Amino acid sequence: MPAINPPRRLLFGPGPSQVETRVYEAMAKPLVGYLDPFLYQVFDDVRSGLRTAFGTRNPYTLVIPGTGSAGMETAVTNFVDPGAKLAIFVNGFFGERIAEMGRRHGANVVRAEKPWGDVFTETEAREFLEKERPQVVAFIHGETSTGAMQPPEAITRPAHELGALVIADCVTTLGSVPIKVDETGIDIAYSCTQKGLSAPPGLSPFTVSPRAVERLNTRTTPNRIWYLDLKMLMDYYDGKKYHHTPPVPAFYALREALAAIQDEGIEQRFARHLKAHGSFVRRIEAMGLKMHVPAGHRLTTLNTPRVPEGVDDAQVRKQLLDEHGIEVAGGFGPLAGKIFRIGVMGPLANEPSLDLFFEAFGKCLTVRATA
Ligand SMILES: Cc1ncc(COP(=O)(O)O)c(C=O)c1O
Repeated sequence: MPAINPPRRLLFGPGPSQVETRVYEAMAKPLVGYLDPFLYQVFDDVRSGLRTAFGTRNPYTLVIPGTGSAGMETAVTNFVDPGAKLAIFVNGFFGERIAEMGRRHGANVVRAEKPWGDVFTETEAREFLEKERPQVVAFIHGETSTGAMQPPEAITRPAHELGALVIADCVTTLGSVPIKVDETGIDIAYSCTQKGLSAPPGLSPFTVSPRAVERLNTRTTPNRIWYLDLKMLMDYYDGKKYHHTPPVPAFYALREALAAIQDEGIEQRFARHLKAHGSFVRRIEAMGLKMHVPAGHRLTTLNTPRVPEGVDDAQVRKQLLDEHGIEVAGGFGPLAGKIFRIGVMGPLANEPSLDLFFEAFGKCLTVRATA
């Protein structure tokens, strides 16, 4: 076999996002064993960096070995007992995914639904939750299928009034958008490494509030998924008791990505992403395109401009990739053919990268619009 030689892409899609060289280099460092004191130092650094990114002091902040979906399943399997009522706010594809996991785990799943791209108001959430009275509530902070960002308090406030635990999917927000887990009252949050944290995929950062830990400790039935059993995972992290063999290079990469965030400063990083988003919207509107999600509800790291009339988005995306090495994504489900999904994250969230992107995007759109 010849040496592997992947194409160099500019990852302007919903994730994986661009990875800095220092992060790739960290992955090539020597392996250590699963109980090595060095690895535990890495775990400590990672867990501390993740607390900063999540905006929490939760001691129970750890990493699930698997992608964002493993975090989602960890949340469901540890906190939703079979027969328990799980209320899900569905306004896109990933709300559907949690609902499906809940069903498979034997939960009584109830859904509040809104069109893809909308968010829920506190009044809507309260009305739904008061009617359903669930034990656990789940919502998607940054809905990657639509580009909408759900304000957490609109859900956490009414949910807590009813004593329910709240699960937040922060897969597309952690690391580039403030989440403020403690301030907003999120009980369980999970994420991924390949979007806002600018590391390769493979791990799922996870955090649990003291209230939710209490609930976990009163659980009498064993978790149905041995691999994602949080108590056993915490015994590995805090008790140094073997549970599984962690993907060590992925931890090195995550540590380096968090170190890069620390070097920049988390607040500065949030501000840089917000500024890049503002610039993106101004430029897209100057081209005559419209954003799918109204201002104020936008997921600032993943922009979803509507595909202009007469433009074949698949052709535009193909041309961007073939001729410019730029990856962007299209819509799917009810938004298929209607939106582009363009991530402006990590090393690409700056003016020079946007210049590059818009030069190529402008060329590809023009060709299709006049073809
Ligand atoms: C909001 C959201 N939740 C969950 C997932 C699943 O994450 P993964 O693909 O890393 O398993 C994704 C993936 O894009 C996502 O965007």
